[in-house]
Amino acid sequence: MRILGIETSCDETAVALIEGKNGRVRELEGLVASQIDIHAVTGGVVPEVAAREHVSAIIPLVSTLLGKWTKKPKIDAIAVTAGPGLFSSLMVGVETAKALAFAWDVPLVRVNHIEGHLYSSSINETKPIKFPALALIVSGGHTELILMKGHGSYRLIGRTKDDAAGECFDKTAQMMGLGYPGGPAVSRAALKGDVAAYVLPRPMLTEKNFDFSFSGLKTAVLYTIRNKHLAVEDPKVASDLSASTQAAIVEVLVEKTIRAAKKFKVKTLIVGGGVIANDALRAALSARVKKDLPGVALRLPQKKYTPDTAVMIAAAGYYRFLSHNIISPSKIKADPNWELVD
Ligand code: KG4
Ligand code: ZN
Repeated sequence: MRILGIETSCDETAVALIEGKNGRVRELEGLVASQIDIHAVTGGVVPEVAAREHVSAIIPLVSTLLGKWTKKPKIDAIAVTAGPGLFSSLMVGVETAKALAFAWDVPLVRVNHIEGHLYSSSINETKPIKFPALALIVSGGHTELILMKGHGSYRLIGRTKDDAAGECFDKTAQMMGLGYPGGPAVSRAALKGDVAAYVLPRPMLTEKNFDFSFSGLKTAVLYTIRNKHLAVEDPKVASDLSASTQAAIVEVLVEKTIRAAKKFKVKTLIVGGGVIANDALRAALSARVKKDLPGVALRLPQKKYTPDTAVMIAAAGYYRFLSHNIISPSKIKADPNWELVD
């Protein structure tokens, strides 16, 4: 079946068409209208500005997508992000999806944004997920460990108590004057840095639960800059501080994830979200899975599927469709706080 995906939860307007067949998903086409340049000016996303941009981008983007075929392709369903995210941004996607589903007389599936990231590693992948599976979601707004017994079965076993891992990258980048979004800037600066240059905490590493906390690490970076009078404009200082910060974030994420995977005896470890674009995190996870979790399949998304895309939303929509995990279109509403739990 062919599914049109729509994603407008934050600062990217995205649409995509996928083919779902025999439990597998293949991207046919995906488009993203990024607002990154607009939000870089304010150093973060201003919700009203984001929503206005979605309104002007969404229909032209759908037209461009469908214009890639000489004849309008057959579309069997529409999948849309209904939450979590910015309310006014989500609303643009949800209302557009409802209108299109009504006009084309096709089913509408609501997808949780986190679930989209969770299925991003299944795009263009031929092997099915073996259950039980553990998913680590690391994005700008979320850091969560989710246990899955099957498609659509989600149990939250750990989450951040405060800031998300991506937020920690973004805020520390801001402190070092590295710009927005911070993750790519910090990981670039960290390439030439010394991970042992600055001693930073590993929050909640020794606690026996699967929760995270990154706000203390962010504060520790701030105090390191202040107390040591660091000249962050010096590329060497920024490199070392970036490498030390990144190492702290990566260590906590990897340790707690491996521990959870062992405890729940999972067969697959899935990772999704913007932060898994980070090469240090990818390498550390791959190495630890090889060493400590023999036989466990690690599923990392291709780099092009780590940011917010509509391909991942359409993919998650396909698996929801397969498990009949759907509700009536009249009940589908933008829900900024939608929690992906059983
Ligand atoms: O999943 P995503 O695109 O949007 C949300 O749903 O939040 O994640 C965005 C986050 C940002 O915090 C960004 O700084 C971070 O992912 N990010 C990275 C890297 N690329 C993006 N963090 C670390 N290293 C990267 N290479
Ligand atoms: Zn996201």
